[in-house]
Amino acid sequence: MKIGIIGVGTVGASVANILKDNKDIITARAGVELEPVIGVVNNLNKQRDVSIKLTDNVDDVLNDDSIDIVVELMGGIEKPYEVVKKALAKGKAVVTANKALLAYHRYELQDLAGDTPFEYEAAVAGGIPIINALRDGLTANHIESIRGIMNGTCNYMLTKMINEGVDYDTILKESQDLGYAEADPTFDVGGFDAAHKLLILGSIAYGIDAKPEDILIEGIENITPADIDFANEFNYSIKLLTIAKKVGSKIELRVHPVLIPNDEMIAKVDGVMNGVSVIGDKVGETMYYGPGAGGNATASAVIANIVDIARRGKGSPMLGFESSHGENLTLMPKDE
Ligand code: HSE
Repeated sequence: MKIGIIGVGTVGASVANILKDNKDIITARAGVELEPVIGVVNNLNKQRDVSIKLTDNVDDVLNDDSIDIVVELMGGIEKPYEVVKKALAKGKAVVTANKALLAYHRYELQDLAGDTPFEYEAAVAGGIPIINALRDGLTANHIESIRGIMNGTCNYMLTKMINEGVDYDTILKESQDLGYAEADPTFDVGGFDAAHKLLILGSIAYGIDAKPEDILIEGIENITPADIDFANEFNYSIKLLTIAKKVGSKIELRVHPVLIPNDEMIAKVDGVMNGVSVIGDKVGETMYYGPGAGGNATASAVIANIVDIARRGKGSPMLGFESSHGENLTLMPKDE
């Protein structure tokens, strides 16, 4: 199968390179050779660590009938929205890591995809296969709650503020230098990136079709040195949590900083790492931990989708958002 990668930055380059480095096992697991044949970039003059053909014309991918799978790693919302729609209209499978796109257009794109695979494991918690866990591994359960640390930038900042007393502005700059922050870091510190991810999980676990403006979102900008001192004095951590909770037939979705006792597992998720706790009514609490960002970690999730598409072929899409696992659940209004 031939793959076109739209957006060959850190993640796109890792996708191409891992498909090459681990070709033997990936071919064995997919049952077919997966070949990244072309990448689309904005600037052809920029040096990149990839050995695939590059173009600056997205139509070189969209109009190439030999390309089976389009990997969308452009960033932003409107441009990728148009590109994904065109790719799906041409019957190409699409894999995206774009959480902002999905936060606004996931239902519409899924409807447009129909039986054509449209997958997005990398959009939530990077290398942690949390979407796979919710859709497949935990499918026997009513999901009672999801509590996650799903923004590495904020978690890195909070960890340094609590453990080392570094001030907010210094640590924001440092976390941007690490390369994990969004192009506009307001998306991180304002809680919006975490909210985008929560909305995707809210759809998978509960079938909730909500947009960011429908849920409570509070970031970490208003955390004061006094809050940090208080947390340290009482042996608590402060974490930016994404919370989905079932309350009767309603689902609460919210993002905000939370004080957590240091002996809870989720309090031990430090630095740029992500952690997600999911409670199912039958399994009890399950916990997932790993890198939520970075080239190879995110590419690992992208390739999981590519391999899955190759194995299943068309006509057997994964559980969609509308499934909501047979439950009739609605979003709890954010002011309730
Ligand atoms: N800005 C995001 C983060 C990148 O810091 O977690 C991964 O989605």
